Formats: sequence, C-alpha cells, structure tokens
Amino acid sequence: MKKRLIILVALVGSVIFPLTGISDPLEDTVTYRQGILFGIGWNVGAMGAMVKGEMSFDKDKFAFLAQRTSILIPMVLEGFKLETKEIESNAKTNVWSNLSDFEERFTTLSKGAEELVRIAEVGAESEVKKQFGILAKQCKDCHDKYKKSN
Ligand code: HEC
Repeated sequence: MKKRLIILVALVGSVIFPLTGISDPLEDTVTYRQGILFGIGWNVGAMGAMVKGEMSFDKDKFAFLAQRTSILIPMVLEGFKLETKEIESNAKTNVWSNLSDFEERFTTLSKGAEELVRIAEVGAESEVKKQFGILAKQCKDCHDKYKKSN
C-alpha cells in the first residue's frame, strides 16, 4: 500500500513539476533577445580577433562570420517588446522611452552588417577592417546609451 502511494506521488509529481517549471513568456522574450545578442557577440568577437591580429585574417571565415551576424541582427528587436520593460535585464530604462531611436539603431546596424558581408566577399582586407570598425562603433555607441555596464 505504502509503495503504491510512493509511486503515485512520484507520478503526480512528475506531471505537476514540469507545469510549475513553465517559464514566464516575457522572461523568455528577454532570454531570447539576450541569447541572440550573445550569438552576435560571439561572431563579432571572432571577427574582432582577426581585425586586431589576435587571429590570422581568413577572408572566407570572416565573410562567413559577417554573414551569420547579418542574419542574427534582425532577430534582436523581436525580443525588445515594450511589455518586457519590467523584466530584470541589462537594458537601461531609457530604452522604453526612446524605443524608436533604439529600433532605428538596429536597422542601421543591420545595414552596416549587410555592407560588411558585401565587402568581406569582394573587398580588400583594409576595407573589411574599416567597415568592421564602423559596425563595432555602432555596438559601442548603443551600449553606452542603453545598456547597463556590468
Ligand atoms: C540599439 C542598441 C544596441 C546595439 C546597436 C547593439 N546592442 Fe548589444 N545590447 C544592447 C542592450 C540594451 C543589451 C542588454 C540586453 C538585455 O540585457 O536584455 C545588449 C546586450 C548585449 C550583449 C550581452 C548579451 C547577454 O545578455 O549575454 C552582447 C554580447 C551584445 N549586446 C553585443 C552586441 C554587439 C556585438 C553589437 C554590434 C554588432 C551590439 N550588441 C549592438 C543594445 C544594443
């Protein structure tokens, strides 16, 4: 009898606990945007290492990383919904009062990344590095204004 009860409790528990583990959709939205940004940082970091000479410059690899970055950038804004403003994150509160400026910066970043892909495929190394510098500055400018420093 006792054994059956334990089995029953275990079964019910396995049904109930996943339910209590369901995450808040707004928190998921924040995790999503942070995940995409992390992915962008990963790819941009690798390009940066090549630009700084910490890694040897490989044109094909650079073009591949630039391509991936340009695919990821348009996904970020899906995660910056006004409803997420109360969720704890590294976004400063001024994002929500300047949302159109914030969104515009991502549009500009997206164009910059597409340009980087184009140049990485056809341009000289010096041009690639120059365009990378323009892109990296856009990241930094936005972070200075809208991201908490941690
Ligand atoms: C228009 C503004 C803006 C631009 C442009 C921007 N970022 Fe960010 N970034 C943010 C904000 C705001 C956060 C904090 C997000 C949060 O915590 O929800 C962030 C967070 C990040 C993070 C941390 C992600 C995490 O939580 O692990 C990385 C990495 C990052 N950005 C990389 C980049 C790179 C690289 C670029 C340029 C290619 C870039 N960002 C361009 C606003 C921007």
